Amino acid sequence: MIGNDVIDLELAAVQSNWKRKGFLDKIFTAAEKALIATAVEKDLMVWALWSRKEAAYKIFNRQTNLRLYNPIAFECSEMEYADGFYYGVVVNQQSTYFTKTEITDAFIHTIATTRPEDFRKVYWLDDTVTVLKKNGIPFRKAQNVAKPVSISDHGQFRKIISI
Ligand SMILES: CC(C)(COP(=O)(O)OP(=O)(O)OC[C@H]1O[C@@H](n2cnc3c(N)ncnc32)[C@H](O)[C@@H]1OP(=O)(O)O)[C@@H](O)C(=O)NCCC(=O)NCCS
Repeated sequence: MIGNDVIDLELAAVQSNWKRKGFLDKIFTAAEKALIATAVEKDLMVWALWSRKEAAYKIFNRQTNLRLYNPIAFECSEMEYADGFYYGVVVNQQSTYFTKTEITDAFIHTIATTRPEDFRKVYWLDDTVTVLKKNGIPFRKAQNVAKPVSISDHGQFRKIISI
């Protein structure tokens, strides 16, 4: 299972003032707010945590067909840096999702999976020509087998992945 979320940092800076009163309390747990408070780059930490929640939520949505808005229910761990990416987990009740986050000057992109070994099986699609949807959830057909596809757009960025 896979999910992804991209954030255009330039657009996010104008779209959402995360410093406004009550914003952090609505979205982040105490532990996540502590990560933001101690981060050198607080903006990047806020958007990295958000993109990890959304990417994990997309797997949850595919597994359960449930649609909900409950960012606090998806709690992000600290991240560890390795080979150009930040790795971590997102926990929702009994489910653990593994996240791989790329942070550049222009965007933050997170890929979530249910198994860490699946990161190396994830690949990019250039477009949605082969993409179908069921209940708004994208997939593609390969040898008659439905394969998950995850799509995310924000500002000038569109990222489409499959496995
Ligand atoms: C559905 C949702 C996750 C989309 O996120 P978004 O940031 O608005 O927009 P994105 O571009 O990242 O995602 C939209 C794309 O996700 C794709 N998508 C929808 N459900 C998906 C899923 N379960 N898995 C993978 N992709 C999915 C759609 O194809 C859509 O692309 P399209 O309209 O171009 O086909 C979001 O609208 C939502 O419902 N969020 C609420 C859930 C929540 O609580 N989030 C907080 C973190 S838990």
